[in-house]
Amino acid sequence: MTPLRFPAGFTWGVATAAPQIEGAAFTDGKSPSVWDTFSRQPGAVLNGDTLDVACDHYHRFDGDFALMRKLGIRHYRLSLAWPRILPDGDGAVNQKGVDFYHRLFDSMAKHGITPWVTMFHWDLPQALEDRGGWRVRGTAEAFARYADVIVKAYGDRVKNWITLNEIFCFTRLGYGTGSKAPGHRESERIVNQTYHHALLAHGHGMRAVREHGGRGARAGLTDNVIVTLPLDLRAENVAAARRAFVEENVRVLEPLFTGRYGAAYCRITGRDGAKTEKGDLPLISQKMDFLGLNIYTGFFVRAGKGGRPEKVPFPARFPASDCAWLYLLPQVLYWGPKHVTDLYGPLPLYITENGAGYNEEAPAAGGEVPDLHRREYVRNCLAQLRAAMREGVPAKGYFLWSFLDNYEWEDGYQRRFGIVHNDFETQRRTPKLSARWYAEVIRRNALI
Ligand code: NOJ
Repeated sequence: MTPLRFPAGFTWGVATAAPQIEGAAFTDGKSPSVWDTFSRQPGAVLNGDTLDVACDHYHRFDGDFALMRKLGIRHYRLSLAWPRILPDGDGAVNQKGVDFYHRLFDSMAKHGITPWVTMFHWDLPQALEDRGGWRVRGTAEAFARYADVIVKAYGDRVKNWITLNEIFCFTRLGYGTGSKAPGHRESERIVNQTYHHALLAHGHGMRAVREHGGRGARAGLTDNVIVTLPLDLRAENVAAARRAFVEENVRVLEPLFTGRYGAAYCRITGRDGAKTEKGDLPLISQKMDFLGLNIYTGFFVRAGKGGRPEKVPFPARFPASDCAWLYLLPQVLYWGPKHVTDLYGPLPLYITENGAGYNEEAPAAGGEVPDLHRREYVRNCLAQLRAAMREGVPAKGYFLWSFLDNYEWEDGYQRRFGIVHNDFETQRRTPKLSARWYAEVIRRNALI
């Protein structure tokens, strides 16, 4: 079998996020984030795990970048911690927090690693939550200030900016179901309003990069599109899957790409749609340089009565990772990018996350972590992405989640997504089989 080649210049990287790896949760002036608070609520997080130490990356980043470099990884998606930079959310700048990321970017430069920086990966300063969090417009305005501060501070060496990570998770899951921080269960109207405020923040992030990013700066949003898979390739099922894709993703993609809360949005949200002000939608729908997609899983759809999309339930024991939500469906990396491109036009796409989470992986005697389950899934996903690219989908890069085992939110430290194993007692890093394989994929620019 010939290795599947990727186009020259394809971006290969790995991803993490500040709250999940940094630790040092109260060091050098960092204030608590909503996750620091939430994780201390009894029963909120498995085993009561907190983000206090995590991978201690705050003190170990230089060694981590040396390891990345050793594996040939040249692109790294990370996030900045808002509560380190502006502990009060929008008050005084904490110079120690700003300096930390200067040191971090210095170390990355030394190791020849290009940063892809997410401005916000869920760690809202608790001080802002105390003033209403994403329910209130003031949080989007505070984000505007934060974005200005970080783009001005780091714009000379950060050229790839991602405004927000996965709006769905910090709005719907944070304020609707309450499974993620801050853990509230609000009405549908309020949830829709949190989406709108998040989109406003995204717009301010784009504006900040345009105003202060300097030459060559690029920006976009990372969205975790809900991927709808046609049950099979019959035209009616493909059409139903596409329709379902619009509906599932309507709260983010419709305003983002069309600059309107249009017919589909109004039909789905009814009377609970977001309240907007003049100027909001042009801010939200500024042209992005790329769209980031976090894609892990999806579900099957077929055409029901009148072609209406119908979700096909999963039978018991359908193959899944150790995350109950993560069914193993490699074709999501074909259909996700394909639906986005067909529906909203060609825009450079980056897969900003993909991977799989498993429990209890530990180095065997001899030190190897034979994570063939993860390796197989990632490899099959990449083959599907390549197939979409052959059909004209403009995917330009792929970031594997994650570089390191880390804090998997409400699943704590038990759920491992890393290609590098972390022993949370000793902080010892051990590259797994998947890391060695991925290093070779990067080296050859081909799927081996
Ligand atoms: C999405 C999130 O962006 C990331 O923080 C999380 O750890 C992974 N998916 C895996 O669930």
